[in-house]
Amino acid sequence: MTGTDVQTRYFEEFADVLLRCNHLYHPSNDSIALRNAVESRRQIEIFDYSRSADAFTRAFGMRNSLKCLQALSCLEVTAHKYTRVCDLGCGSGAFSLAFAHLADNPELELHGLDISEHQLSLARELMSAAGLPGRFQFEQRNLPAQIGYLPDLTISSYWFCENERVIADPLLFDLMAGREMLIVDYEKIIDRIAASLPKGFHILARHSAHVEIPPVLADSVAQERASVYSIHIGRTKD
Ligand SMILES: C[S@@+](CC[C@H](N)C(=O)[O-])C[C@H]1O[C@@H](n2cnc3c(N)ncnc32)[C@H](O)[C@@H]1O
Repeated sequence: MTGTDVQTRYFEEFADVLLRCNHLYHPSNDSIALRNAVESRRQIEIFDYSRSADAFTRAFGMRNSLKCLQALSCLEVTAHKYTRVCDLGCGSGAFSLAFAHLADNPELELHGLDISEHQLSLARELMSAAGLPGRFQFEQRNLPAQIGYLPDLTISSYWFCENERVIADPLLFDLMAGREMLIVDYEKIIDRIAASLPKGFHILARHSAHVEIPPVLADSVAQERASVYSIHIGRTKD
């Protein structure tokens, strides 16, 4: 099997999981209007999730989840080793879903944090519909805040773009990071994280890639390919 075949299979298997959640992802008039508005503005957006959590999920949930799976390909053979995983700004569960699928680990304890109760209730519904192994807990939290333990891995997609002050503040960055952290975000945000990484952290990997959207998801994702920017960070041992 060629590298491209393996990559295609990797995404096709995940497409089956996403289709199990299609009732949460299927486009609505509101989600189509939101996507059109965002695409016409071409800027980093901060959404009002109290009004648009459902439309946000239908417009961007599947695409974000596919991007997160692409970013996770650097952990493909080790994903099951991260037992305590925390998803910062988990929203409706895009990164949580991709991680749980890849890890396929009944011992996984995945903890999603978000300020929006609307987003969290969608994340709970999504994980329940997906039926993936592991324990999942989604909790309302205004971040940055104490998490109470050091996760093996912190994952985060499109949260830093809404909380850029955390990038510039070493204490807040330290508070949010687990032993390792994998971040998916806009290119500009990943550049900023890489350039201002506080002492005590180092870059394990940094990727930019394209995801070819599986044709079975074409109706929901409404694009053929998407760009992904990610950075994998570790704590430096003393
Ligand atoms: C762009 S969405 C991304 C959601 C999800 N990670 C994804 O990739 O689809 C950003 C999420 O961060 C959450 N968020 C933003 N600022 C926050 C804060 N200060 N504390 C907790 N959650 C926050 C929002 O409620 C929203 O769900």
